[in-house]
Amino acid sequence: MPADDPQLARVDAYIEALFAPEDDVLRENLRTAERAGLPDIQVSPSQGKLLYLLAKIAGARRVLEIGTLGGYSTTWLARAIGPAGRIVTLELDPRHAAAARASVDRLANAPAIDIRVGPASDALRAMAAAGEAPFDLVFIDADKVRYREYLDLCLPLMRPGGLILADNVIRDGRVADVLPLDDNARGAHAFNAAAAAHPRLESIVVPVIRRYLDGLSISRVRD
Ligand code: SAH
Ligand code: DHB
Ligand code: MG
Repeated sequence: MPADDPQLARVDAYIEALFAPEDDVLRENLRTAERAGLPDIQVSPSQGKLLYLLAKIAGARRVLEIGTLGGYSTTWLARAIGPAGRIVTLELDPRHAAAARASVDRLANAPAIDIRVGPASDALRAMAAAGEAPFDLVFIDADKVRYREYLDLCLPLMRPGGLILADNVIRDGRVADVLPLDDNARGAHAFNAAAAAHPRLESIVVPVIRRYLDGLSISRVRD
């Protein structure tokens, strides 16, 4: 979905055409999601490429995703980590999970992809209790009001030096309000404040172009 602002749309189209052209697999992923009636709210192609590069730079093998939708961001991450890795991705809505399953089952050279259906908080607590092996990278992209909770719940699941990424942390600049009025902006505002101040994290937010100006936060867990 292009940006509303024509200048931002032009810049994003330029970056996308040069660095993140969509291929048949990504297009088929979006067609599957559309046919299943899923909302068109996945990361942009440029953002997908950024996730891919961050995962590669981090040398990530074990990835946790919170918010699967139709598996579009999962596909970018799967391509970065390759067949020796593993992705655990958490999704509340069984219809979203089913569309994602159909799409990721078509991927070649993919890691093991474990889609867990249910509230993400429950799954995160269950993983901690089960002594799940540590993750190298977490991508938080589910319900914005719980981002702060997800940060707390996923930190014990991370290896030292691991990366925590979170989508939608700028929300058209509404996060910069002292007291954001809408729930989602308030959720992102609380998350950003926690990521900035957390003694175990070093963090930044990178603005990204979506329908409006949004952002991806990047945090590294201290060794
Ligand atoms: N990461 C995806 C987009 C995710 S959209 C991509 O870029 O391709 C957000 C997803 O989070 C939706 O599919 C929604 O159903 C899911 N979600 C919302 N609340 C949730 C919860 N409490 N637990 C797990 N998933 C949730
Ligand atoms: C929307 C966008 C997202 O990236 C997301 O994770 C959830 C909702 C939206 O534009 O509504
Ligand atoms: Mg998102």
